[in-house]
Amino acid sequence: MNFIRTSLLVACAIAAPLAIGQTAPKLKVGLMLPYTGTYASLGTAIENGFRLYVTEQGGKIGGREVEYIKVDDESDPSKATDNVNKLVKRDHVDVLVGSVHSGVAMAMAKVAKDTGTLLIVPNAGAEAVTGSMCAPNIFRSSFTNWQPGYAMGEYMAKKGLKKVVTITWKYAAGDESANGFKEAFEKNGGKVLKELNLPFPNVEFQALLTEIAATKPDAVYTFFAGGGAVKFVKDYAAAGLKKNIPLYGAGFTTDGTLEAQGDAAADVMTTLHYADSLGTPRDNAFRLAYAKTYKLQPDVYAVQGYDAAQILGIGLLATKGDASKKAEFAAAVEKARIDSPRGTFTLSKSHNPVQDIYLRQVVGKENKLVSVASKALADPARGCKM
Ligand code: BEZ
Repeated sequence: MNFIRTSLLVACAIAAPLAIGQTAPKLKVGLMLPYTGTYASLGTAIENGFRLYVTEQGGKIGGREVEYIKVDDESDPSKATDNVNKLVKRDHVDVLVGSVHSGVAMAMAKVAKDTGTLLIVPNAGAEAVTGSMCAPNIFRSSFTNWQPGYAMGEYMAKKGLKKVVTITWKYAAGDESANGFKEAFEKNGGKVLKELNLPFPNVEFQALLTEIAATKPDAVYTFFAGGGAVKFVKDYAAAGLKKNIPLYGAGFTTDGTLEAQGDAAADVMTTLHYADSLGTPRDNAFRLAYAKTYKLQPDVYAVQGYDAAQILGIGLLATKGDASKKAEFAAAVEKARIDSPRGTFTLSKSHNPVQDIYLRQVVGKENKLVSVASKALADPARGCKM
C-alpha cells in the first residue's frame, strides 16, 4: 500500500508539468552490492562503473538527478530478503541495482517481481533471474552463468581435450557454470570425469587439488571469482598442477584478480563477454575515463555497472524519467542496441544480454583477447514465460 502510494506520488510529481524553477525529484537508486567479503572488490567496481556513466550524462538519468542509497549485502543470501525490503519499503527506491552473488540476486528478483520494482542485475548470473523468474520489470546487464561455461565447453572439446575435471563453489553460480560447460563439452565428444566443489566462500582447496592430481584429467575447468579466485589460481600453481593439467575457466577466475595472482595466472585461458585488449574506440574511451576517475584499471564488473546505468538511461529516456511506466521502459530497452565497452549487445526477450563471448589468455597483467569463442550467444532462458 505504502509502495503504491509512493509510486503514485512520484508518478504525479513527474507527470505534472514542473513550475519554473521547480526540479524533478531525485531518482532513488538502491545499490545492493557486496562491499565486504570475497566479492567486495566486485561490488566496488560495479558502483564505480555505474557512477561513471551517470557522471558522463551530467549527473542525471532520464532528466533526474540521482540519489544513491547503498546496502552492503555481504554476498549473504540469508540476509538478502531483509536487505532488499529495506530499500523497497523503507527507502522507496525507484530502481534496484544488484547484486553480485546469484543467491542474493534471486532474493532480489523475488521482491522485485512481487512489488513491481524495477531491478537491473549488474552481475549475478543465476539462470532463474531471466529464466523461471523472468518479468517485465527485471533486466540484466551482465550474463547468465551458463554463457561463459557453454562457450568454453565448445572450445575445449573442439581443441581435442577429452577428459576434464570441474571445480567450483557449491551454489547456483558454480553449479550453473559447470553445467553449462558440461552440456557443450559432452555434446561435442568430451567427458567430465568429476565435478568437484566446496561450499561458498571456502578456500581450503588442498584436498580437492590432491584429487585432481590423482585423477589425471587432460585439463580442469573452473569457476571462482574475487578473493577466492585469487587463492585458487595461486594454490593450483603452487601444487605444481599447471604444467601437466592446464587450467581453463569462466573469465571471472582471472578478471580483476591479476595483480594479486601474479605469475600463477600466466597463460590461463578463459571465456567471458569482456577482455582487456579489445582495442575498439568505445572501449578505449571507457578505459581511459575509468582509469582517470578511479586510478584503477576497469574489469568486467565495472563494464557491467556502466551498462546497468546505460540500460536505466535508455528506459527512462522513453518514460521521461518515470520509473513506474514499466511497459514503456521495457519496450525501449527491448529494442535498444546497447553501446557497451564490451561491444554492442541487445537484450533477449527474457532481458538477458545476447553477446559475444571472447576467448582470452592471461599475458602479464591482462586478459588478452584471443578470438571470439561464441558469436552473439543467447542464454536458452529455460522456464521464462513472458
Ligand atoms: C554469481 O554469484 O552469479 C557470480 C559471482 C561472481 C562472479 C560471477 C558470478
